Amino acid sequence: MHAKNLECSYCHRVYEARRVHNVCTECGKPLLVRYDLKRIAKVLTRQALYARRADLWRYRELLPVRREENIMSLGEGWTPLHHAKNLGASLGMSELFVKDESLNPTQSFKARGMAVAVSMAKELGLKKLAAPSAGNAAGALAAYCALAGLEAHIFMPRDTPRANVIECEVAGAHVTLMDGLITDCGAEVARRKDDEGWFDVSTLKEPYRVEGKKTLGYEIAEQSAWVLPDVIIYPTGGGTGLVGMWKAFDEMQELGWISEKRPRMISVQAAGCAPIVRAFERGETVAGEVTDAATIASGLRVPKAIGDFLILNAIRESDGMAVSVTDEELIAGARELARKEGIFAAPEGGACVPALRKLIEREKVKPTERVVLFNTGSGIKYLDAFDSEAKARTPREQRKSALGPALRA
Ligand SMILES: Cc1ncc(COP(=O)(O)O)c(C=O)c1O
Ligand SMILES: [Zn+2]
Repeated sequence: MHAKNLECSYCHRVYEARRVHNVCTECGKPLLVRYDLKRIAKVLTRQALYARRADLWRYRELLPVRREENIMSLGEGWTPLHHAKNLGASLGMSELFVKDESLNPTQSFKARGMAVAVSMAKELGLKKLAAPSAGNAAGALAAYCALAGLEAHIFMPRDTPRANVIECEVAGAHVTLMDGLITDCGAEVARRKDDEGWFDVSTLKEPYRVEGKKTLGYEIAEQSAWVLPDVIIYPTGGGTGLVGMWKAFDEMQELGWISEKRPRMISVQAAGCAPIVRAFERGETVAGEVTDAATIASGLRVPKAIGDFLILNAIRESDGMAVSVTDEELIAGARELARKEGIFAAPEGGACVPALRKLIEREKVKPTERVVLFNTGSGIKYLDAFDSEAKARTPREQRKSALGPALRA
């Protein structure tokens, strides 16, 4: 409602709001929405939020959709900030929390970004949306396009978890599976989009998914009585969540809703695909592309992120860091979250647990600090990952007797 314009996150060129944009036409970097925050501060107080709807549209003034009827909502956002007392106790911590994004529609935080992007696409009169995806973004895009009556054209690596592929097909999306990585899928969208009349909703290649994701930052503040935690640990692929939260903190500070104190932003990646960790450790401002990216945490298999400089900037400005964990560690982390907290986390969310343990060991996080881990999705979409890992650990004979005859056949 109060969006002023869009601004290039790199060269700061300004673009008109309410027009169709992808990236900056000057430098090719992501565009971000700018709001009239002074005006919003006058019309919206923190107290006014308390009586509002329990989804991300409670921050309506800080989102780009103008007309109510264009809001395509399935109840995304306002997920629990779970006090993880059992996991915390095992780490000697009393203030450990899990932002549990598996409770979103389509079971991942990707619903936030896609709800806002699809609503904006509807408002701008677009009809056909296309995206490469590691899986969860695809499921969310398919669902919101179904709701909005738009076409979804989705490109995923062939080895994307089956659940993601099936949910897209069931929702009526056009699905293409490709040999290769998400970057290859993105190249295919870019190659075909003009001929096909598709609008490209790739991560940070349109300005609105990040607006949906930024509500994570608003929610964490609101759910913590407007005092941000000391540390946020976030599993990073394309990085929209991290970049979005950092934007939310900027906005909230300007609104006068939070103090200057920011959390240290910790980016977690899988050892088999850790471009941000490598760039962080080398002191670089952009990340090189990873070759042979491999990890079972499909959402973290992003060899090159267009928003790399924004991710690295948020990490450094916050005095945070970037850490990698192995696939074995991240699956064990997901199992630990399930056993100790009852949260069946996606492998990406599981990655935060070994990351936190390493940070405590290295004295980068104190057990007395307030820490928020992100469980970005549900383990239910990754049954094969848990199953094959369990089979690998179980002796063969035991495995046979554990399976019924029907399964063995
Ligand atoms: C469950 C899950 N966690 C984390 C990520 C990475 O998110 P981002 O691209 O915002 O860094 C993804 C992306 O696909 C995901 O599906
Ligand atoms: Zn630019």
